Amino acid sequence: MKHEKGGFASNGKFAAGGTINDTLGKASVDSIEDEAWNLLRESIVFYCGNPIGTIAANDPSSSSILNYDQVFIRDFIPSGIAFLLKGEYDIVRSFILHTLQLQSWEKTMDCHSPGQGLMPASFKVRTVPLDGDESATEDVLDPDFGEAAIGRVAPVDSGLWWIILLRAYGKCSGDLSVQERFDVQTGIKMILKLCLADGFDMFPTLLVTDGSCMIDRRMGIHGHPLEIQALFYSALLCAREMLAPEDGSSDLIRALNNRVVALSFHIREYYWIDMRKLNEIYRYKTEEYSYDAVNKFNIYPDQIPPWLVEWMPSKGGYLIGNLQPAHMDFRFFSLGNLWSVVSSLATMDQSHAILDLIEAKWSELVADMPFKICYPAFEGQEWRITTGSDPKNTPWSYHNGGSWPTLLWQLTVACIKMNRPEIAEKAVKIAEKRISRDKWPEYYDTKQARFIGKQARLFQTWSIAGYLVSKLLLANPDAANILVNREDSDLVSAFSSMLSANPRRKRDWKGLKQKFIV
Ligand code: GLC
Repeated sequence: MKHEKGGFASNGKFAAGGTINDTLGKASVDSIEDEAWNLLRESIVFYCGNPIGTIAANDPSSSSILNYDQVFIRDFIPSGIAFLLKGEYDIVRSFILHTLQLQSWEKTMDCHSPGQGLMPASFKVRTVPLDGDESATEDVLDPDFGEAAIGRVAPVDSGLWWIILLRAYGKCSGDLSVQERFDVQTGIKMILKLCLADGFDMFPTLLVTDGSCMIDRRMGIHGHPLEIQALFYSALLCAREMLAPEDGSSDLIRALNNRVVALSFHIREYYWIDMRKLNEIYRYKTEEYSYDAVNKFNIYPDQIPPWLVEWMPSKGGYLIGNLQPAHMDFRFFSLGNLWSVVSSLATMDQSHAILDLIEAKWSELVADMPFKICYPAFEGQEWRITTGSDPKNTPWSYHNGGSWPTLLWQLTVACIKMNRPEIAEKAVKIAEKRISRDKWPEYYDTKQARFIGKQARLFQTWSIAGYLVSKLLLANPDAANILVNREDSDLVSAFSSMLSANPRRKRDWKGLKQKFIV
């Protein structure tokens, strides 16, 4: 395809209207892509002779491997999507089916087993001597559910990503036989049951401990962090599409449907922030005891951080990082916002506003390398208290305001969905200036993303795969549909009446066919 479109290598001539520099630029971009494909292929991990996933990083210069020699579920998603878009379906199929087998493994930590249905954060292929035969070996899969992970964090996002990838596999390959398999259907239901189980929680958002997603260290994201909610919503919608109707699952599907409505209402209404909403919070009354309180979570206006007062653009808005009683985490978390666009957890207007904000705050969120994982960083005393003085998460490094090239692919899907691919194109061009020269780092440091991260791995697979997915999707935007969730039309009409209702009055539920507790 590259050749058909013309360019240096294909016809030996310079493209019409282009300059020599353009053409050389195109040739070097092609070579970045070629290099990325070679590196991605080199990262493939084999199990019993067959490709099963990709290693997290393949950095020959690094002395401490830690667990970067493992296949991480979340890290494999962009690799899997790149392979799907290239028509190489087998590795994705094999990843889906083998990680499913790991799901039911009994692993314990301090005599306690993780909830049934939990997917591991990562796994390793070990070659061990065959029982009773010293000369022969066999491959075994060794999963980590967090019981060996630094900080013993629970990988809540793994199962959600697994469901999202499963749907993408079916949509892209046309092979629905995988999702229809009995064991796969059971796997989907186990993940759903774990997420939909009743607990003490009052909110429809999923309650998790700190570090349960891409940010897998203590970073003040315990409770109801946006990233988990966006993935949860997306996984619920993907699962609904794939679950085979059968008598035994009607309760589960009912619970799923209720949760989809309640979750989207809750996030759209209470996580959303823009100039108007900020001003509303600034003038909040507190200590309201009633069912229809305006300030339901008893947020004290003093919580509005000074940086936000300056930072909030007049056009645009975003979903805040977390919401708990008397606590709003006003940081901008990129993955949560981008995936809220992709999954339609955010409304159409909110989704456009998120992209408007990204454009308005380009010099902070993209700067020299896309994309900031969150903004701003915690500094000083706040850093000390929130991270526990974590030397890896110092201000503007790693998870604390570092810049992660892998986020390019989620940015690209969101921009394509909203028909604004030029935003992603611009970001990809910035990445291309240095990502290959810098050896595909895991993350960048400093406010402007000027340095390769202090402890960043080089040749980080999801940096490589994320870039490839962006390129492949920008060349073929329709393919983004394998990841996008379109909004339910019932929801649209129900919400428009609810959201326009006066917040002081009780919510008008008349538009809804069914009653939901929100
Ligand atoms: C780091 C990241 C995590 C990633 C892992 C492997 O722990 O925080 O998101 O999955 O590295 O790349």
